[in-house]
Order: sequence, then C-alpha cells, then structure tokens
Amino acid sequence: MTTRIAVLASGGGSNLAAVHSHLSALGSASPAHIALVLSDRATAGALARARAWGIEALSLNVEERTTGLDAILGAHRIDLVVLAGYLRKVPDAVVERFSGGRGLVNVHPSLLPAFGGPGMYGRHVHEAAVARGVRVTGATVHFVDAVYDHGPIIAQWPIAVGAAETAESVASRVLAIEHRLFPRVVSAVAAGEVRLKDDGRVTGWSMDAALEAALEAASQVLIDTTNGAPPQ
Ligand code: GRF
Repeated sequence: MTTRIAVLASGGGSNLAAVHSHLSALGSASPAHIALVLSDRATAGALARARAWGIEALSLNVEERTTGLDAILGAHRIDLVVLAGYLRKVPDAVVERFSGGRGLVNVHPSLLPAFGGPGMYGRHVHEAAVARGVRVTGATVHFVDAVYDHGPIIAQWPIAVGAAETAESVASRVLAIEHRLFPRVVSAVAAGEVRLKDDGRVTGWSMDAALEAALEAASQVLIDTTNGAPPQ
C-alpha cells in the first residue's frame, strides 16, 4: 500500500505538478500517490490540474480549512500532507497529528531561516532577498511545526544571485530548483527514508547522484562568484 498524500496549495500548482509527474514517472516503484488536493481558493490552478488528472480536488471554506481540516484528512486516510504554496496557517490539530509521524512537509523559496516567517511568501521573499543584496538564495524543504517556516530542515539547494538580477529573475530560477528538489524529498519522506531524530534534526536524506552532482557544480559556481568571476 503506497503512502497516501494530500497536497494543499493556494496557487497555480506548479510544485503540485512537479510532485505528480515525479511520482507518476516512478510508476509501480513509487512509494506514494496523491490521493487528494485541497485549496483555500476555489479558483486555484492547483485544483484544475488535479481534476484534469482525475485526482479528487476540494476547495475549503473557512471552517473546513481550520477546525474541519483534520477530519477531512482522516476521512481520506491521508498519511502525508504536502504544502505546495499553501498560504494559510495549518491548524495545530493537523500539525500535532502529522508532524509526530513526520508527515507534514513544506517547500519555501529561500534558504531558511533567511527570509522566512509570516508575510514571507511568493514574490515577497525574492523582493526582500534582492533588496538585501544576497549573493546566494535557493529553496528549502522542511518538516512543518506550529511556527511558520520554522520546522526541521530536510534539504536545501542554493543558487548564486547575479548582481543585476531582479526579484522576477530570482523567482523563476528558484521555482525551477523547487521543481527538482521538492518531488525527490516528498518521495524520500513517503518512503520512510527521512527520519526526524529526537534532537529535532533530520537524518536519512541524501540527494541522488544527479542532484549531488548538480549541487557540487552549483557550489563550484558559488566559489567562482565569490572571487568576482561571473557564474559560467
Ligand atoms: C512556490 O514559490 C513555493 O516556494 C511557495 O509558493 C509557491 C508555489 O508556487 N511555497 P506553485 O503554486 O507551486 O506554482
């Protein structure tokens, strides 16, 4: 029996699509499948994508996304909750039920703890990073706890930020990184390969060869840019 995933998304659902296509490509070897897609916005592109794939997709009213969410997830026998651009606070009852079993993950478009917390979502993150003049940013995947963007970090992928970049250029590059990193982490968590130790740190995550090679290449680029050489 594969892990049953619920994806919560407020927006277009490109991360949802990346997770869906990654798990689909794994075929019978996939440790999980997306059983349910939920959104706080009836018009969210994520819901339309799910329906096109034949996956149950529900828009949640205020009660359903707060006091009712735990019961909805339980009724659908969900094992793992994946936040893919979900802009609402996850109710404490859901955090308690799922994070104990390591079953609640989120993707954030910066290298947490930098540029995280309330109000730091979507373009606001990249605007703040570019305004600060960062030379590195990236994506973070982490377990969710009761505090925004604060749970134990599972994986991060850095990108170099060129001096002339805008929030838009950084946003599109980070989103491309999310689409490569998030599905692999979701798959590893679903397969039980990632563990949360008693000290709150994460173990068991190791990027596959392709990702490690890409990271190595990225880190080389980062080293080059620190001595002023432009990224190749
Ligand atoms: C992504 O930038 C993600 O990092 C953030 O919300 C955005 C979701 O975009 N959590 P999409 O709806 O997956 O395209």
